[in-house]
Amino acid sequence: MKKILIIGAGGQIGSEMVPFLRSIYGPSNVIATDVRECKSLAEDGPFEVLDALNATNMASVVARHHVDTIFNLVALLSAVGERNPQMAWGVNMGALMNSLEVARQHHCALFTPSSIGAFGPSSPKDKTPQDTIMQPTTIYGICKVTGELLGNYYNHKYGLDTRSIRFPGIISNKTLPGGGTTDYAVEIYYDAIKRGKYTCAVPRDVYMDMIYMPDALKAVVELMEADPAKLRHRNSFNIASMSFTPEIIAAEIKKHIPEFEMSYDIDPVKEEIARSWPNSLDDTCAREEWGWQPDWNLERMTVDMLDAVRRKFEAEKAAAE
Ligand code: SER
Repeated sequence: MKKILIIGAGGQIGSEMVPFLRSIYGPSNVIATDVRECKSLAEDGPFEVLDALNATNMASVVARHHVDTIFNLVALLSAVGERNPQMAWGVNMGALMNSLEVARQHHCALFTPSSIGAFGPSSPKDKTPQDTIMQPTTIYGICKVTGELLGNYYNHKYGLDTRSIRFPGIISNKTLPGGGTTDYAVEIYYDAIKRGKYTCAVPRDVYMDMIYMPDALKAVVELMEADPAKLRHRNSFNIASMSFTPEIIAAEIKKHIPEFEMSYDIDPVKEEIARSWPNSLDDTCAREEWGWQPDWNLERMTVDMLDAVRRKFEAEKAAAE
């Protein structure tokens, strides 16, 4: 990776991926793009407004900057996708097809995230294997499975260097996720600091895999830098670091904020989605093929998240005064 193009850079992953990649590869070598202006990403490196559904403009950015690696981070997430499946398909698959075609024509490597949402109710629930039944029941998951198959296809048919990770719910403190089923695990920290309580839309007993953003960023760079000869999977890799329920994360927060209160107001759409996803993934293939190993667990992440969100909240309060 020498010249990297990030598409959808203003979202939850991109807003942290861009600074992370710029710190490794140099600010001028990471071109951030999004459908909207993003001031913070334009401050320390190249930024362009780019609609990922416009293949001509995407190709022009790639050619102008001599890009060799594309990160396609455009996606409507699971819960919001169920409100408008046609739009979710149009955006998620449109951005992916354009990225695949531009990458093919300009000889770029391509990273696209997949998700735990690529699995469905008929997949094994615990330690879900790398290669297993994938019959998701959300449009988001259907886009992810299709994307995985296309990544594999472009690699097989055209020799395109496609790489992907099935991300668990990503927990971060810079940009909020929007419209996902795992969003509760981010919102809970904000509400714990700001209000001392949180109303959770996901039932107390549902396990889902989660990952802290620093581990997610590290995983992507390690995968993209991995020896291609060692990668047997070109669809996408399971990775795992922690799996918990709303009740478990609430108990962890209570260790630091004893007065924290959790209540539940279940969103039936999120409940159905959450119950259809795995409890935990088996990440053996990622460990074996490119050395994946997480650094963070729930205990350490909670300390870090509460500290970061508290500092953010205090800075906002000070700025408002
Ligand atoms: N975080 C995503 C969602 O909840 C899953 O990849 O939709």
